[in-house]
Amino acid sequence: MKTYDEYLLMVNSAIQAIDYPQQPAGLYEPIAYTMALGGKRLRPVLTLMACEAMGGNPDHALNAALGIELFHNFTLLHDDVMDRADVRRGQPTVHRRWNDNVAILSGDAMLTLATQHIELVDDRHLLAAMRLFNRTAMQIYEGQQWDMDFEHRHDVTEQEYIEMIRLKTSVLLGCACRMGAILADAPQDRQQAIYDMGVAMGLAFQLQDDMLDVWGDPETFGKEVGGDIMNNKKTFLLINAQQRAQGDDALELRHWLNDPYALRDQKYPAVRAIYERLGLRQLSEQAIDHYNAQAIEALRRVGLADDAYSAFAALINRLTTRSK
Ligand code: IPE
Ligand code: IPE
Ligand code: MG
Ligand code: MG
Ligand code: MG
Repeated sequence: MKTYDEYLLMVNSAIQAIDYPQQPAGLYEPIAYTMALGGKRLRPVLTLMACEAMGGNPDHALNAALGIELFHNFTLLHDDVMDRADVRRGQPTVHRRWNDNVAILSGDAMLTLATQHIELVDDRHLLAAMRLFNRTAMQIYEGQQWDMDFEHRHDVTEQEYIEMIRLKTSVLLGCACRMGAILADAPQDRQQAIYDMGVAMGLAFQLQDDMLDVWGDPETFGKEVGGDIMNNKKTFLLINAQQRAQGDDALELRHWLNDPYALRDQKYPAVRAIYERLGLRQLSEQAIDHYNAQAIEALRRVGLADDAYSAFAALINRLTTRSK
């Protein structure tokens, strides 16, 4: 097995080698811009790791890995329009640097580019790869719609939240893992186990993302913080705050949730302080530990050799302490 950084290098060299047409520049420039900004490249690395861990050749999984990363970046372009987010990976988001129409159409083009990369897997695996990819994409749209619907609801349960993040975030990590397993000709039960590992990792990953949106350092995180609070996103934190706040905290929270003109400089620190008084940071960390343990349990079921097992276990641990 290679290290994360070695897989990252494979992914980044392949991304750099993608040749976008010159015209129309309004369509392709934002794509090149987004793909050049970097990011953790977690999903394509998972595909390469899973393929190699299951005895396949990671070179043969590279196009599928790129397809998944292109798809992920497409979702970010549209997500930043939907979330009214101005900064990503430390730079202006596409809809801010250009405009909403550009973000929509370049995003569409990235989705097709993603599919065209998945198409490049060998004929023997093509149908399985496409089915997995398209099923996952549909689930992500469902998750994103729940996420938007929940902004306007105040009775979202923790269970609904977990299902929403399973759809919008976790299934793509599961898909990335399973794609590698498919290309390594792994049997169905091992494909399912590594998929389950990816999904559990993804739940912990989104819980951590929601925490970083409150307590992260914008410099390292690469995104502005406080956006989830401003948008009344029904995160694990907000749902638990709604359920646990008493007295003045409950009144204040209700006030902020119902004030559409609230200023960021006031609402964000105030809601963050409520979260802190209620000990929700710790509660969120416990939930992350819970899903990490689920990921390890699924990882055991995959039945990998020691070095491959350790590589995934180390990644699960590393993501828990991430600051970006
Ligand atoms: C951001 O994904 C969207 C979420 C699912 C939280 P990443 O945190 O993997 O973003 P990049 O690709 O590293 O920028
Ligand atoms: C992202 O959730 C999920 C998808 C992009 C599909 P967020 O909205 O929390 O992601 P960030 O924080 O903007 O990266
Ligand atoms: Mg979002
Ligand atoms: Mg967002
Ligand atoms: Mg977020």
